[in-house]
Amino acid sequence: MEVTNAPAAPVRALVTGAGGFVGRHLLAHLLDSTDWHVYCSTRAQVREAQLSERMSMLPCDLLDPERTRQMVEQVVPGFVFHLAAQSNVQQAFKDPEGTFTSNVVGQLNLLNALRTVAPKARILVACSSEQYGLVRPEDTPIDEDVPFRPNNPYAVSKIAQDALALQHFLSWGQQTIRVRAFNHIGPGQSEHFVASAFARQVARIEVGLQEPVLQVGNLEAERDFTDVRDMVKAYLLAITKGEPGEVYNIGSGTAHTIQSLLDAFLSASKVPIEVRHDPTRMRPSDIPVLVCDASRFRERTGWAPEIPFEQTLLDILDYWRGRVRAET
Ligand code: GDD
Repeated sequence: MEVTNAPAAPVRALVTGAGGFVGRHLLAHLLDSTDWHVYCSTRAQVREAQLSERMSMLPCDLLDPERTRQMVEQVVPGFVFHLAAQSNVQQAFKDPEGTFTSNVVGQLNLLNALRTVAPKARILVACSSEQYGLVRPEDTPIDEDVPFRPNNPYAVSKIAQDALALQHFLSWGQQTIRVRAFNHIGPGQSEHFVASAFARQVARIEVGLQEPVLQVGNLEAERDFTDVRDMVKAYLLAITKGEPGEVYNIGSGTAHTIQSLLDAFLSASKVPIEVRHDPTRMRPSDIPVLVCDASRFRERTGWAPEIPFEQTLLDILDYWRGRVRAET
């Protein structure tokens, strides 16, 4: 028998949406805490600082089934983090069809390619607490058995992604693991989401780029915020320790009003700021309260968020202060 000392081939992980907010944080975490080779499927650029010899860029539009198949054949991944999506609720109201196509057809092309090329891959599908929608008060905090009552097109697209992942497990035995993530925020998120929307304005006002008036939408909603850096740790635990075919809610279990998030930014501001209601920031229908019961996930993996809410907000404000300084 021939004996070789050849090192074992590294584990190959594929991340879709790798250039997005969560994707960039996930890449950093995978490079830090695993020895995997990470293949980044993205339509956007990944920042130079993150480039590593354990990372490869694979430009790919998941709406192109041929290109998606080629990309999957090139990688033959053991693990797939499917993050690519149109993730903004307000945008989904403006373009339901585009949202549905990106989120559902993109995932269908990916799962179909993986089914033949890498049938044993463990596949994490990023679903959303938005799926629960207008939850009845007696169903809060929300566990995985709470019925879906979606009130926007984004939520419906995520319900379809969730169902599609389950169907591919049940029909084809694909090792899909669904995570329903509650709100996650942190440095690097776009200003189209509430924490960055407010922090960016504070940073611009502080240096005189904007009059001292901060525009806001609905301040009464309550959301369960987790730092994105804790969320990506949860994703790695979910894909390695989660049970294929299963679904897990991920969130901190604590609700914060949007008003309290605003108040934290106002008190961190170096200058006085007036708050003004902007009707264009209101949604046709908003969810009043979303609070997570993550017991199933905690029991399976031992995950718990570590970064305090207040620290996350300060890090977001620092990020925007840096961005605004660089732009001036
Ligand atoms: N974006 C935004 N901008 N939201 C505002 C603003 C504003 O100026 N003012 C108030 N809000 C309120 C929204 O009406 C909503 O009630 C809340 O702040 C949070 O809005 P977003 O940050 O846009 O997040 P989301 O809750 O709609 O969705 C996020 O979380 C989901 C998980 O629950 C996204 O990250 C989704 O992709 C994710 O699935």
